[in-house]
Amino acid sequence: MSAATRPPAARSAFMDLAPEVENFRDAVLAGLSRRPRAVPAKFFYDAEGSRLFDRITELPEYYPTRTEIGILDRYGPEMADMFGAGVQLVELGSGSSVKVRLLLDRLTAPAGYVGIDISRDHLREACERLAEDHPGLEVLALCADYMGEVAVPPPSSGLPRRRVAFFPGSTIGNLTPGEAEAFLARWRTWLADDDVPGGMLVGVDLKKDPDILHAAYNDAAGVTAAFNLNLLARINRELEGTFDLSAFRHRAFYNAEKGRIEMHLESARDQIAMVAGRRFAFTAGETIHTENSYKYDLPEFQALAVRAGFTPARVWTDEDRLFSVHWLEA
Ligand code: AVJ
Repeated sequence: MSAATRPPAARSAFMDLAPEVENFRDAVLAGLSRRPRAVPAKFFYDAEGSRLFDRITELPEYYPTRTEIGILDRYGPEMADMFGAGVQLVELGSGSSVKVRLLLDRLTAPAGYVGIDISRDHLREACERLAEDHPGLEVLALCADYMGEVAVPPPSSGLPRRRVAFFPGSTIGNLTPGEAEAFLARWRTWLADDDVPGGMLVGVDLKKDPDILHAAYNDAAGVTAAFNLNLLARINRELEGTFDLSAFRHRAFYNAEKGRIEMHLESARDQIAMVAGRRFAFTAGETIHTENSYKYDLPEFQALAVRAGFTPARVWTDEDRLFSVHWLEA
């Protein structure tokens, strides 16, 4: 076959920065020993937790996923126009292939796509599928923790015309505002490097009627409850835990003062649970704090971005102002 008739090869590469994976056992033992007891939300996502989260995104009460997809579908062409040709698109957390495609498919001659994720197999699979569907696009699967320092290599064609870091899903809501600011500031340093213009496209859930928020985290089908309780099931599976799942209740509520949904697991009675050979006593009503999901007003998030060194240049929302997508110039 001559070079002229050969179909463009799927150009997909894998790079492993061997991220230091925080030990589940150490984090759980420390978190259950602390007062108030708390386990980081990132530990929800074992295979079962990821499957349950996918189900959450389809729930009628859980508006964020479909609303953000609606915004990207509607304004993706406008975003792509604004970015212009030769973009290196970097996705933080490479799970949302539906979302990134709404952007990627509209870009003119992108210089490359880089997916960053800590979950190796999931990342490889997502990037391979993306490369298959975008012949000629240079795809890099970068196994790394995007919450830490990541050295993103330039496309093989050299410095791109523009860098865009895409961080959808309001995952930023899991961070406290202080952590979110530090996280954005870290990415800004890379985005503004070498005088390449760049910025960050961030999905942020908005403050709204607490009843809507409450319903989104207390769905009628009980999927969010199962997602929350799966943390205890995971401890039982992986850490020789003895949690009685029927003796803990899913609690999710909007903390208006802090501007966040809090998820907890509440002990229904006095009880003992063993974890990795250690004994934990719970009193009735005591909780394990499992997640924060911060909500922002538009000016509030823009002010946070300014503190991180960005210039908030554009923001898109849905008609009901449920969700926002911010373009922050580095
Ligand atoms: C993935 C962190 C954006 O906070 O809405 C969904 C996780 N927790 N239902 C969110 C979640 C309960 C989700 N984020």
